[in-house]
Amino acid sequence: MKIAVMGAGGFVGSRLVEKLRRTENEITTHDRSTGVDLLTGEGVPEALADAGAVVNAIDAPSFDEAAVAFFRTTTETLLHAAAQAGVRNVVLLSIVGIDDAADVPYYEAKLLQERLVEAGPVPYSIVRATQFMEFIESILSWTSDGDAVRLPTTRIQPVAVDDVVDTLAEVATGPALNGVINVAGPTAYPLDALGRLTLQARPDGRHVVVDETAGLFGQVPRDAVVAPPGARLGSTSYPQWLKHGA
Ligand SMILES: NC(=O)c1ccc[n+]([C@@H]2O[C@H](COP(=O)([O-])OP(=O)(O)OC[C@H]3O[C@@H](n4cnc5c(N)ncnc54)[C@H](OP(=O)(O)O)[C@@H]3O)[C@@H](O)[C@H]2O)c1
Repeated sequence: MKIAVMGAGGFVGSRLVEKLRRTENEITTHDRSTGVDLLTGEGVPEALADAGAVVNAIDAPSFDEAAVAFFRTTTETLLHAAAQAGVRNVVLLSIVGIDDAADVPYYEAKLLQERLVEAGPVPYSIVRATQFMEFIESILSWTSDGDAVRLPTTRIQPVAVDDVVDTLAEVATGPALNGVINVAGPTAYPLDALGRLTLQARPDGRHVVVDETAGLFGQVPRDAVVAPPGARLGSTSYPQWLKHGA
């Protein structure tokens, strides 16, 4: 089967392509750097010709309100072209718990993306992942102020990106779920504790100060973005990941 990967040069997309290339499927790789733009539609019909599945792993340029229009246009463009091409599985990478945290503009945008896919004309699979372990350093940097990192106690269940890629690859090579699968790491931590673990493993002079209003996760209800019942749990723990990557 031909599988088209949108966002193939990205953090997730590039790892997914590497994994899918080890299967018997034909993998095609697309983003603006290869002449495919889901905002303008340029190159999209050609990218999807003869594809049995397409994975949508693109991301918006910003986390603010502008992400809503970005995900609306790009998702509608992809669904329209996928229907025209007879694609049998549109796979969307989304985020665990966004329906309980839709006050966050970026999560509102991702939820809209899911709704469009669910209501769209093509069989679909939604893979919801928790926050990537590789993304925790960025979360700390958002609310660093000198040597203080302000973090709320919102619970986060970080997952290694490779564990997410395993599920994405499995879903992309199988029949459409017409539903959602959740993928998370093995353990949930209050974000302030996750910050302390990170800074213990990679000390840089900063320390954690609890601030329930800090950053994006200060707007997220305490248990909204941890694994729901039935989620698939990755095998890599955060302490293992820190040790391996440090
Ligand atoms: N970070 C997390 O913890 C987390 C957790 C769960 C889910 N996710 C989801 O994972 C997805 C992928 O994230 P990522 O970090 O891999 O993103 P990324 O590294 O920023 O990569 C984004 C990709 O999208 C492409 N792209 C951007 N605009 C495009 C357009 N108009 N048309 C076609 N391609 C376009 C980019 O290439 P060009 O710039 O060349 O076009 C790039 O290949 C996101 O949707 C995010 O919501 C993230």
